[in-house]
Amino acid sequence: MTTSIAPPRPIPRDPQVDSSLALLADPYRFIATRCREHGSDVFEARLLLRPTLCLTGPEAARLFYDGDRFARSGAAPEALRATLFGEGGVQGLDGERHRHRKALFMRLTAPDAVQALAATVRQAWRRAAAGWTPGQPVVLYDAAREVFTRAVCTWAGVPLPEAEVRQRTRQLSLLFDGAGALGLPHLKARRARHAADAWAHSLVEAVRSEAGAPAHETALTCIAHHRDPDGELLPAPVAAVELLNLLRPTVAVAVYAVLAAHALHQQPGQREALLQATPEDAPMAMACFIHEVRRYYPFFPAVAARTRRSFTWNGYEFPAGRRVLLDLYGTNHDARAWQTPGAFRPERFRPDRRAVERPGSERTGPPEQRPYSFVPQGGGQPSHHHRCPGEGVAESLMKQTLQFLLHELHYTLPPQDLSIDMSRLPALPRDRLVLVPQGAVLR
Ligand code: HEM
Repeated sequence: MTTSIAPPRPIPRDPQVDSSLALLADPYRFIATRCREHGSDVFEARLLLRPTLCLTGPEAARLFYDGDRFARSGAAPEALRATLFGEGGVQGLDGERHRHRKALFMRLTAPDAVQALAATVRQAWRRAAAGWTPGQPVVLYDAAREVFTRAVCTWAGVPLPEAEVRQRTRQLSLLFDGAGALGLPHLKARRARHAADAWAHSLVEAVRSEAGAPAHETALTCIAHHRDPDGELLPAPVAAVELLNLLRPTVAVAVYAVLAAHALHQQPGQREALLQATPEDAPMAMACFIHEVRRYYPFFPAVAARTRRSFTWNGYEFPAGRRVLLDLYGTNHDARAWQTPGAFRPERFRPDRRAVERPGSERTGPPEQRPYSFVPQGGGQPSHHHRCPGEGVAESLMKQTLQFLLHELHYTLPPQDLSIDMSRLPALPRDRLVLVPQGAVLR
């Protein structure tokens, strides 16, 4: 970050009157493509009825997470608050209220909690496969969403009668798979938000109406009894939103599970490399593969904030109160941070290669060393920035799924369209990855 003493230069502008349709047509590449055209890491466009500054790259990501210059309250578009996020949750908080609420999520996603969730997911995959018929196709995206819904509800202490599994899987899925669409799918996502809020609200009220301390602590009881810095219980609708902030994205890991399976079969040599890794190297090989899936494939295109005040950055004058989007997909593919960003190369995350760093060669190393260039789930530090607290959960559920596919399930891939639909939010293989279980379904 540099602060120039020369007079500020104007931020380049997209020439179109409104660029919302262009954004929706190519959501993952919209910002980076235009930044390249403007020769700048920032440009302004009119998006969703408002002038919006669009940022890309690691340097811009570092700026975006500066809490003195950017705030989150009132930043997210209404269409996302009414579907994906809900109202009153951690995403829209700033300063001390944010840090306090975020500490709740950091506790709920601590390593021992993630381990317990992983064990539940392992069981849920085996149970699902036991019900599959050899030769009958299974759509991995559908199966994973149901497996993760069952597992996260069990783990969180959320009662889920068998008769409700389909309905809750569908509701939780619509919150992330439909939120960014237009027309009917978006309306369905709004309806799902109403229904899911009411369900989560009733769960919170049920816990609060129980006399005395809970028999055992669960994610649901922690959220229901959580108090804000002023010592007050969260309003029940807000606690409901926070419960959904745990359940919804865990189900959304199904997208990454599908993309990981896609990489297993479509990225040359990757499946063999994981199967042939020595026992000593297998955990590292798996971890690097999962990091590269999250870097290489699209999921969230961007995150939103607004400027708190005017300031100058890299010679550009940022006005106060302006909505800002940070390009996540483009930053994960920025050639200033990643060598051959369009190639799938898990070894770029191996820590041991940093020792042989040569001028002009890629800096290799784990994600912790790249807080502003590896940003599939946001940038900075999760405990005090808005970075996702669920990266450990996402990695662990991806690992369980990969181990199940590599070591437990007998299956083949039938002919299908495996191309990724980049205009869809979230992007997925067009046929959602179909597999056909074989003979003895489980090894
Ligand atoms: C499916 C894979 C996931 C992706 C791609 C993802 C992505 C993201 C992104 C991009 C953000 C916003 C970062 C920012 O605003 O700067 C975020 C925030 C958040 N995520 Fe995730 N996430 C995933 C999984 C999870 C999981 C499994 C959980 C919970 C267990 C979770 C809970 C949250 C919460 C509570 C926030 C808000 C954090 C804050 O505002 O401080 N996410 N996530």
